[in-house]
Amino acid sequence: MTQRLAGTVALVTGASSGIGEATAVQLAAEGAAVAVVARRRDRLDDLVRRIEAEGGRALAIESDVTDGEQARAAVAQTVEGLGRLDTLVNNAGVMLLGPMEAAPVEEWQRMVELNVLGLMYCTHAALPHLLAAAEDSPRRVADVVNISSVAGRVARAGSGVYNATKFGVGAFSEGLR
Ligand SMILES: NC(=O)c1ccc[n+]([C@@H]2O[C@H](COP(=O)([O-])OP(=O)(O)OC[C@H]3O[C@@H](n4cnc5c(N)ncnc54)[C@H](OP(=O)(O)O)[C@@H]3O)[C@@H](O)[C@H]2O)c1
Repeated sequence: MTQRLAGTVALVTGASSGIGEATAVQLAAEGAAVAVVARRRDRLDDLVRRIEAEGGRALAIESDVTDGEQARAAVAQTVEGLGRLDTLVNNAGVMLLGPMEAAPVEEWQRMVELNVLGLMYCTHAALPHLLAAAEDSPRRVADVVNISSVAGRVARAGSGVYNATKFGVGAFSEGLR
């Protein structure tokens, strides 16, 4: 590894499994200190141990990012524990499929609250720290990485609400850029 991210700090949401977990491992391998955020504490602790065993630095933060206060606290704990924030990876997301007719509306709420609002809460809380990092880092840059999907570009029957959330991620990202 090139350690291109040495001296930087990243926060990855949904780091207790899948793409988020793999991203956290890769960021740490590139030299970033990584705050790993999700609800399942045991899986986060295990991930921190694995990153540390490889010589990296990581911090487990148990948080439900659909709660604005918890999202803000996760960002605050990252800055308090690791010193700064250069990279936010908004990865936590859920895909619940099925026909719209007679769909359980609570599934729609779960997707909107996590895929859209959770991502927005984390971004809002992180922005001041990211802007400060871009000002003072040698790289002169900070990053927000929002994990969308092919489903954020093409809508299909059976995934309309997931599509709506991921199209929303694209729109929010473009507005932010
Ligand atoms: N897998 C694919 O083929 C694919 C394709 C395109 C896009 N994506 C997108 O990629 C992202 C990751 O997908 P994945 O397949 O890696 O999913 P995954 O393995 O199910 O991981 C989802 C992560 O989100 C976390 N999470 C769920 N609810 C949360 C909450 N309220 N607060 C904080 N964290 C929460 C989960 O951790 P806890 O349960 O511990 O909280 C878990 O770490 C999603 O945004 C998904 O839409 C995936």
